[in-house]
Amino acid sequence: MCPMISHFAESTTGSSVVEFRRMADALEAKGITIVDFGIGEPDFEAPPIVSEALIAAIESGKGKYVDPSGLPELQKAIAEFEKTQHGLIVDPGQVVVTTGSVGALSLASRALFDPGDEVLLLEPCYGPYRNLTRLTGAVPVGVAMPREKGRFIVDPDRLAAAITAKTKAVIVNTPWNPTGRVLTRPELHAIADIAERHDLWILSDEVYSELVYGDNYHVSIGGLSKDIAARTVILNSVSKTFAMTGWRLGYCLVPTSLAPVLSRINHLTTRCATSFVQHAAITAYTDGRPHLETMRGVYAERRKTITAGLERIEGMRCPLPEGTFYAFVDFPENWGESREIAQYLLAEGGIVVTPGSAYGKVSQSNLRFSFATSTDVIEEGLTRLAQLLPLSNRT
Ligand SMILES: Cc1ncc(COP(=O)(O)O)c(C=O)c1O
Repeated sequence: MCPMISHFAESTTGSSVVEFRRMADALEAKGITIVDFGIGEPDFEAPPIVSEALIAAIESGKGKYVDPSGLPELQKAIAEFEKTQHGLIVDPGQVVVTTGSVGALSLASRALFDPGDEVLLLEPCYGPYRNLTRLTGAVPVGVAMPREKGRFIVDPDRLAAAITAKTKAVIVNTPWNPTGRVLTRPELHAIADIAERHDLWILSDEVYSELVYGDNYHVSIGGLSKDIAARTVILNSVSKTFAMTGWRLGYCLVPTSLAPVLSRINHLTTRCATSFVQHAAITAYTDGRPHLETMRGVYAERRKTITAGLERIEGMRCPLPEGTFYAFVDFPENWGESREIAQYLLAEGGIVVTPGSAYGKVSQSNLRFSFATSTDVIEEGLTRLAQLLPLSNRT
């Protein structure tokens, strides 16, 4: 028997997305064809110019340590990108380059949370928020958000009611995984007001910032005012923006005074994000916009196909996603719990979906469908689903 692991590590839980993918792998190994609506991973490749820049960087010997804050040219390219895309005025020195948004979240949590601090999460929410908070010894406080016409919305009163003397931060995610919502300016103002009133940090996860559709547009909470910017850490990455999930490159945008702290912790944890990936990412942030526009157009069409197909299933309700690449359906409670339904769909139809319960109790009657997959796969999945649902047809 080995010695005990840390209490903080012990308090974390595994990812449902990973768990279901592993179950699907086991079925695939037995020859079953899987339709995967599980993982939030673009089916596109990285922009070819970025891959070429990566190879050139390796071939020209750019594989050495770089500053733990990131390459200055990359910090500059990211600051420019944020200004052009979202009107954020930031100095390149406010950018700390990380290993993806998860690296950015981990870094920000370590820098800001102490054991016993409480961190507010708007549920349903991305699972790692809970676990990364726990890893620091802080306490995640899930606050269930209500629905309006089938869409989850921000209820500032519920958020305010969860505040205690120990509350240290609130994590905001827009565009919002798993709900497919894009938070409106009034919703963001309401959260920002609470943060100001109670002196909270805001961690704003904006990894889907470029994936918004129709009349919706992305607003960064950090851009609402100078005062809000002074208490906000914005997180983003190349993963969803440029379909570069495995490259593990992201960043924190922070108030100037926080940048040296994050840089110090980055140095202690990863030393620096991979150097040649940083060189390639300069090309992504400088010249990758046409690629992301193409992807956005394709996702915008797919979301209509999947939403229409899911809505045709009696009992299921699927609001048209405003952003991200997730359709978040709800189904009647009498069908059972989302995890059981996800297991049933995988076992009987080879369909991978993520149970709503992975995102909080409030979404136990939801399933998340990622449409970061081809239209052919979506059509095949919808055909299989129609044979298995609604659940009352099972007997
Ligand atoms: C809300 C949210 N934040 C962060 C991430 C992780 O992104 P990255 O690949 O940049 O670590 C994901 C990935 O699915 C996500 O959905």
